[in-house]
Amino acid sequence: MFNQIDLLPDDPIFGLNILFSQDTRPEKVNLGIGAYKDEWGNPVVLSSVRKAEQLLLEQKLDKEYPPMEGVVDFIQTSLKLVFGSNHFLLKDKRIAAIQSVGGTGALRIGAEFYKEIASGPVFLSTPTWPNHLQIFRSAGMQVNFYPYYSEETHGFDFDRMCAAIRTMPPKSLIILHACCHNPTGVDPTFEQWKILSELIKEHQLVPFFDFAYQGFGANLEQDAQAIRLFAEEGHEMFVASSYSKNFGLYGERVGTLAIVTPDASTALKVKSHLKQRIRSSYSMPPLHGARIVSTIVQSLSLQQEWLQELEKMRSRIRNIRKAFVNRLSEAYCALDFSFMNEQLGMFSFSGLDEKQVLALRDQYGIYTPLNGRINVAGLNSSNLDYVVQAVSQIVKS
Ligand code: LMR
Repeated sequence: MFNQIDLLPDDPIFGLNILFSQDTRPEKVNLGIGAYKDEWGNPVVLSSVRKAEQLLLEQKLDKEYPPMEGVVDFIQTSLKLVFGSNHFLLKDKRIAAIQSVGGTGALRIGAEFYKEIASGPVFLSTPTWPNHLQIFRSAGMQVNFYPYYSEETHGFDFDRMCAAIRTMPPKSLIILHACCHNPTGVDPTFEQWKILSELIKEHQLVPFFDFAYQGFGANLEQDAQAIRLFAEEGHEMFVASSYSKNFGLYGERVGTLAIVTPDASTALKVKSHLKQRIRSSYSMPPLHGARIVSTIVQSLSLQQEWLQELEKMRSRIRNIRKAFVNRLSEAYCALDFSFMNEQLGMFSFSGLDEKQVLALRDQYGIYTPLNGRINVAGLNSSNLDYVVQAVSQIVKS
């Protein structure tokens, strides 16, 4: 029965880790997968997370099955982080929310649920996180694209995105990156979000926010501004949040799917469908990561500590991005990568093409996805000069 089966290529992002680990060059640099690394290139477990784990250990909590929708305390905590505490939608119980297996799980459950109740296609930005395509295709949806990024200006292509929205059929799902667009790092301004919100409403589209980088752009509140604006403006919408990056809980797989509905009774019905999807896929999400997040956010001191740690990660990324751009322009052949300084979040969209990316990989052992996205958090003072030299050599040749 396996005779017909072919070998699929590795994931364009996770596959890089495999290639990287097989590379024996000591000077190799991994700028691929979006995971934060410290100044010495090591993975980081936040001290607030370690302390929360200690508290959880001391409480000797049981390991019974949680409800199908997940850890209730965590879900409430997550909704407050996303929408702000005391939000009218929370008070009115208009949000159907479940704990998800990371942001990916939230997108997938959301996609399947949408497919169950509506028949429209989904629209993704060009470019986008490659897994979006697989998730929505696997959920059986027709996938289309809208323009988002201008290669010429290295910025957000607002006019072309607006024009594309005007042509989308009503009830289409439109995937929006709430902040720190992956892979470009280029976000709409608040004024542009307002216009997008009006257009999306006028054309009766369903916004689905992917919110994986809260706290990596400006701060927790500002990064949520698009979602809160859309909520204020009365959209029925989906939000997939991830706590992989902002709590550094990558492998714990912790996220939330929130669906804003017109009233509490609809929210209850929607939740019942989400629960059934969960039950038939994995029964319920795991406890540990969710407990960590709610323990941190519900303790004033741990919350403070977490916010400081988040700020530290954010500023390290901002500073190393600036240093990268400056070195490229000062030291080596006046390369102008200043547009990168405008980009937000963990990534920079370098503008390097596929050939240049492969040359970096082959000649220097520097790994980035083929679209030229750089995980800035993988840069540090020990590898910066090496990467700058390599990039300038490749660009000049
Ligand atoms: C990334 O884009 O590198 C991260 O979001 C990790 C992933 O799941 O692809």
